[in-house]
Amino acid sequence: MTYRIAPSILSADFARLGEEVRNVIAAGADWIHFDVMDNHYVPNLTIGPGVAQAIKPHCVREDGSKVPLDVHLMVQPVDALALAFAKAGADLISFHPEASAHVDRTLQLIRGEGCQAGLVFNPATPLDVLDWVIDKVDLILIMSVNPGFGGQSFIASALRKTEAARRIIESSGRDIRLEVDGGIKVDNIRAVADAGADTFVAGSAIFGQPDYKAVIDAMRKQLAAPAR
Ligand code: DX5
Ligand code: ZN
Repeated sequence: MTYRIAPSILSADFARLGEEVRNVIAAGADWIHFDVMDNHYVPNLTIGPGVAQAIKPHCVREDGSKVPLDVHLMVQPVDALALAFAKAGADLISFHPEASAHVDRTLQLIRGEGCQAGLVFNPATPLDVLDWVIDKVDLILIMSVNPGFGGQSFIASALRKTEAARRIIESSGRDIRLEVDGGIKVDNIRAVADAGADTFVAGSAIFGQPDYKAVIDAMRKQLAAPAR
């Protein structure tokens, strides 16, 4: 299993965002997770396509390889902003199915722009919609907190949902990434991996600490340990 760590810049210092992105990539980030909140679908307001465009040139490793920009849209409606983020340089764009009037159409729109498309499931949202659109999904994102804020506690039922999502991916036979977002720390990342996740969002656990590399290394050490 190839595991990916996707630091959420929601908890970064917004006054020095380019530097923060470069620092967390130097510390070993695999993806940059970009949380978009609209004060409508969620009760908070964050950053838009202009900021994505501004940080895009910083999403590169020292060897010149690119670090995918993983845009998590917590907005309603979805389509116009999904397009704007595709133009701004997003590599993956995920949205909440409740927030789109036409989920299948939004998935097609994102993929039509050459981006990978993801569906995000809140703690109380069932996975049923996947039965009908799995062939157009590149990423499943399981929320382990209610969306809107960083620094919340992990909701345990997300583990069971991650297991269910892994079974759906296996039976589809498709190459779909399974990401979990919210309250992930060094001490629970292994349990999330054991439930079937391959990609881990962490905001406050990384940006809340002085040494990003120490945290990411500690997470990787947990992931490298034998399954419990
Ligand atoms: C929550 C966001 C998360 C958040 C995670 O709505 O989608 O990406 O930044 O932050 P932590 O890791 O602090 O829970
Ligand atoms: Zn997120």
